[in-house]
Amino acid sequence: MNPAIKTEITKRLLSAAGNPISGQQLADEFQVSRTAIWKHIKELEQDGFIIETIKKKGYILQSSPDTLQKEQIEQYLTSNRFGHPIHYFVECPSTQPIAHKLAQENAADGTIVICEEQTAGKGRLSRVWKSSKGKGIWMSVIIRPDIPPIKAPQFTLIAAVAVTRAIEDVANVRAEIKWPNDLLINGKKCTGILTELQADIDRVQAIILGIGVNVNQDMEEFPEDIQHIATSIKMVSGSHVDRGQLVARILHHLEIYTDLYVKHGFEPLKLLWESYSGTLGKRIKAVMIHNEIEGVALGITNDGVLQVRTDDGKVHGIYSADIEIQKD
Ligand code: BTN
Repeated sequence: MNPAIKTEITKRLLSAAGNPISGQQLADEFQVSRTAIWKHIKELEQDGFIIETIKKKGYILQSSPDTLQKEQIEQYLTSNRFGHPIHYFVECPSTQPIAHKLAQENAADGTIVICEEQTAGKGRLSRVWKSSKGKGIWMSVIIRPDIPPIKAPQFTLIAAVAVTRAIEDVANVRAEIKWPNDLLINGKKCTGILTELQADIDRVQAIILGIGVNVNQDMEEFPEDIQHIATSIKMVSGSHVDRGQLVARILHHLEIYTDLYVKHGFEPLKLLWESYSGTLGKRIKAVMIHNEIEGVALGITNDGVLQVRTDDGKVHGIYSADIEIQKD
């Protein structure tokens, strides 16, 4: 079986939107026999696609599985580099080490690794990231911006804006960014971002941007101990979300913002970030490894550092912390 032909057939069936595609036409186009086309169709059925065969007319796609197979993302892709190529896994421990390895082997800027289920998903500070099967977006994006390593943490903020905008576009739900790496809806976490780095002393080789989005879970699908702090887009919007469409939209915004950042720096993105922030103007507690401070979150600097004013009037720059937003 030729995987390129299978990909093309899948794309044709998806874009035909319920209209028949003739087996003979596909056979002529790909210069293979009609039996070879039929074998590809059978394989697609095994992958979960429901395909009806109508005599003298051809194949009609009746329904697609709720998966993130690469054609299901590619049909929506509008980005030029991001999402080219897509490495898809049904299950893996974590997409991060796979992306790291690919980056070391010179994978192109914009390469993504994505899966249905992670058995050892990881969050910031080596915390566990729950990644249940077929319900979320668990992906790592390899980005190769020409910037010094010190600037890499800003990609957490850039990604937060890209994902927020994508959720708004696809599900009409407004998430808020909690500095530095969480997206919250109604105060509960729906997205986490993990920015890792491969770098020389003065230049970034690759940023491995891990993005985890809770998309279609129901409350009881989260482990009990996180049900009070976690949410999914579906739980808020009330409707099932096409994960392929959401992935493509994230990549669309991420590519635009990456290019904007490399050309013009963080300033234009800072304004966007601030407009989506749920942290600014609020009283917060910032918990660091060795200490914690409480105060009002004033803003972020052009380097993405959070500015907090404590009650004695002093302004502190926070580079990395867990933030608790205090109740008014
Ligand atoms: C956090 O909130 O602490 C960050 C969570 C990041 C989760 C994503 S899911 C895809 C990628 N693979 C991982 O193991 N982690 C990141």
